[in-house]
Formats: sequence, C-alpha cells, structure tokens
Amino acid sequence: MAGVQATIQFRSRKKVYLDEDVTNENKNILNIRKTGERKLKRNIEDLKKDIDDDCTPVKVSRRETVASKVTAKKDSEEENQKPLTSREKEIGWLDNFLTEHLDKEESASLYISGQPGTGKTASLSYILNLPKFKEGYKQVYINCTMMKSAASIYSRICKELQLPTSGTTEKACFNAIEKYLKKKHKMILLVLDEIDQLDSKRQSVLYTIFEWPAMADSRVVLIGIANALDLTERTLPRLQARCSLRPETLHFAPYTKEQIINIFTNVLANEDKSNVFSPVALQMLAAKISAISGDMRRALDIGRRVIELARRTKFSDNQSIDNMMKDSTVTVELKQVLEVLNDVYGGSRKIESDAEDGFPLQQKLILCSIMLMLTKGKVKEILMGKLHDVYKKVATARNIVPLDMCEMSAACGLLEARGALRLGAGASARARRLRLQWDRAELAAALRDKPLLSAILDDVSCLPS
Ligand SMILES: Nc1ncnc2c1ncn2[C@@H]1O[C@H](COP(=O)(O)OP(=O)(O)O)[C@@H](O)[C@H]1O
Ligand SMILES: [Mg+2]
Repeated sequence: MAGVQATIQFRSRKKVYLDEDVTNENKNILNIRKTGERKLKRNIEDLKKDIDDDCTPVKVSRRETVASKVTAKKDSEEENQKPLTSREKEIGWLDNFLTEHLDKEESASLYISGQPGTGKTASLSYILNLPKFKEGYKQVYINCTMMKSAASIYSRICKELQLPTSGTTEKACFNAIEKYLKKKHKMILLVLDEIDQLDSKRQSVLYTIFEWPAMADSRVVLIGIANALDLTERTLPRLQARCSLRPETLHFAPYTKEQIINIFTNVLANEDKSNVFSPVALQMLAAKISAISGDMRRALDIGRRVIELARRTKFSDNQSIDNMMKDSTVTVELKQVLEVLNDVYGGSRKIESDAEDGFPLQQKLILCSIMLMLTKGKVKEILMGKLHDVYKKVATARNIVPLDMCEMSAACGLLEARGALRLGAGASARARRLRLQWDRAELAAALRDKPLLSAILDDVSCLPS
C-alpha cells in the first residue's frame, strides 16, 4: 500500500512537495466548522436510516455530491475563514501562486494530484472563496464528473464567462472562448476538478485547454485537479511535453495518522462531541486509515459508522429511537473501532470466508463478472453499464435471473460497504466507474475453490465481442 501512496516523481519544471508539519495544527482549524457541524448533524440524524442502506450507490453518490457541494465554491465565506486543518502549507502555496500571477497579470497552469479524500477540492474551495481572489479573478470552477463531452465543457465555460456564442456546437463555443481570450479581459481562474473522470477521448480536450495560458494576451490561470495517479503518470508528461507553458505541479499526500487525528478532533469539537472517541479508539482509527489510504472522506465515514455502532450497543433493542438520538453521552471504545474496521478492511481471511458464504449469490456473481472483465476482458476501467452487460450474461447462462441495472447498483453499494469495491461518480448510472479494492490475486484464489464461481472467471463468452 505504501508503494501506491508514494509520491510519483514527475518530469516537471518545478515540483512542489510540501512537508508535513503537524505540530501546530490543532490551533489552526475550525475553517470547516459549519460544514463539519452540518454534516455530522445530518449524519447523526441519518444514523438510523443509514443502518440498512449505508452504502447504496444512491447514498454514496449523494454523499459524494454533498461532499463536493460542501467543497464547491458556493460555500459561504464564513465557513472558509481559516485554512483547512492539515492543509495549511498547500493552501499557503496556492495562495502565493495565485497572488503572484494576479499581481503580474501573468498566465500559468497548475496540475494538482492526490488520492481521493486528501482535501484537494476542499482546499481549492477555500482559496476560491478568499475575497482577494473572488474580486481579482473571473473564476470558473468545473467539476468534470458532470461533463458529458468536450462540447459541454466549452459551453459551460462560455456560460460562466457570459460569452455570446454563434450557436451551441462545440466549435461555436470554442471559437467564442478563444476570441474572448485574445481580447483584453480580466484575469481568468479556470479550475477543472476531477479531470480523471473524463474518459480518454474526452481527456484530449485537456491538451487544448492547457494551451490557453500560452496564448498571447490570454491571461488565464488554469488549475487541473486529478485523483488518479495513473492519470498523473499518463497525462502530466504529455501536458508538459506538448504545452508551451508547462504546468507546475502540486501534490496532496495522503493524510498521516497525526493529521487525521487533528482533523477528527476538530470536527468532533465543533460538534460538542469531543469526548465521544476514547483517545486509543481514535488513534487506532487514524492509524488504520493512514496506513491504507489517508482518505479523509473514508475516515469520516468510518467514524460515523463507529459512533452508530456504539449507540446501538449502548441502547438495547427496546429503547425508542427518540431516546437513542437524544443521548449524546455515547462513548466509542477501541472494540467498536476494531469491529467496524474489520468489517470494512477484513483482509484476506475475510475475502476467503466472505466469498465462501458471507455474500448473497448475486453479489458473488457481480464480483466474478468484475474479475472476468479485469483478467480476461483486458479492460482498464470498469463502468457500471459494461459490468451490467457482462453480469447479465453470466447470470443468464447459469439460469439465474439477473438483477436489473438499478438493483445491481444497489448490490455494488453493499459490496462497497464491505470494502470490496469503490464506486466513483459518473454522468449517468451506466457511466459510473467502479474499482476493485480487494487484492485481485487473493480474490481469484478464494473464488477458484468454488466450481460455479471459478467457471465464471474463465467464461469469456460473456464478454463483449
Ligand atoms: N483537512 C480537512 N479537514 C476537514 N475535512 C476534510 C479535510 N480534508 C478533507 N476533508 C473532508 O473529506 C472529504 C473529502 O475531501 P475532498 O476535498 O473532497 O477530497 P478530494 O478532493 O481530495 O477527493 C470532504 O468531505 C472534506 O470536507
Ligand atoms: Mg475532489
């Protein structure tokens, strides 16, 4: 895992990599006070509802949407008064970068990379909301998850810049933007978030957009944000080779254990729940998340599940929900953290036993279909729609009635809750991306033992021709 998280050294003009310094972080937080409060409150209110549908795709996507909304530039200034805990250095660097280019009225481009949940969007959101950048730049923030085509990106930019266009086609919008860039205009700050959500065809639009800062008189500061390291490996060298103005880079390293503890401590303090986690319970949770992914979204989700478990343990079944919700004295112990962690990151023994009897048959079929696509289908990324096509054939060939798309998405949500998969965003249900989280070799070994499942792994007839 550590290898996966390691910073990839880019062939970059200037590589910025900021050291962790967590000593004073506790003093510097509260920037997301309202956000944290609102989110935790919602989650505690939702706790009961969450028990059954904790990670259905709808829920997950809602959560993702909430997270991105939280971080989108709509946040009020009040919420953004102080830099994000544990990201003071990255934010400081961004502040300097943007100030410098604003003062000099000079174009530039920047490529931000980092695993999901490392606070990239949240940090950008903070920066975009600083009054000096709100006033100084004409800002355009686009989350590429929602963009169906290059045309939609261009038309969105036109809309945000309020440019008149001669039509709605890609060409019309593109021309309008280029024309605008050549005229005298206010400095533009264009942020393209989640560029890894563009498929490879649509990613070619990046090469065009990253050329804009190099155009004479353009005065554009362009920031591209990517979650996936493979995109960074593939795209950045190409951008740097092709674009006349090579992008600078800023990497968001996964959060360390100390940083996760600091963030948690503050989120809980803002909720008046400082004593909910015993110190050892919090240490364990932070240690595990930092060892696995350093993903704060995941850490907060697991934290909520642990609080929920502690509540359920404290209150016997005959207690009313009302009483349960009113009580704020629940304390989380190490045991409960271990229980949730074990459920989410069970490890190989768990894969073995889950694949054996822990899963309903349909979920096993889904897992086998994913394995089939990854091993025999040579696909690089799995889209929900493609998975459904393969899964349907797999089930039908075995006289099992297949789940429809919606039901299969829900089943994938349950697999995600077990830590087997990770679901990404997508413009439509079929376009959602999905990643296998469990070790492929271990899972294959576990499935190989069962004749029904093992046969599916070799059944290439179910793959698209
Ligand atoms: N330093 C932090 N302090 C508080 N919350 C954070 C911090 N970093 C991330 N989060 C929370 O974790 C979630 C994921 O963060 P986000 O900025 O969306 O990550 P990324 O864009 O890198 O995937 C969000 O809900 C965000 O509010
Ligand atoms: Mg993000």
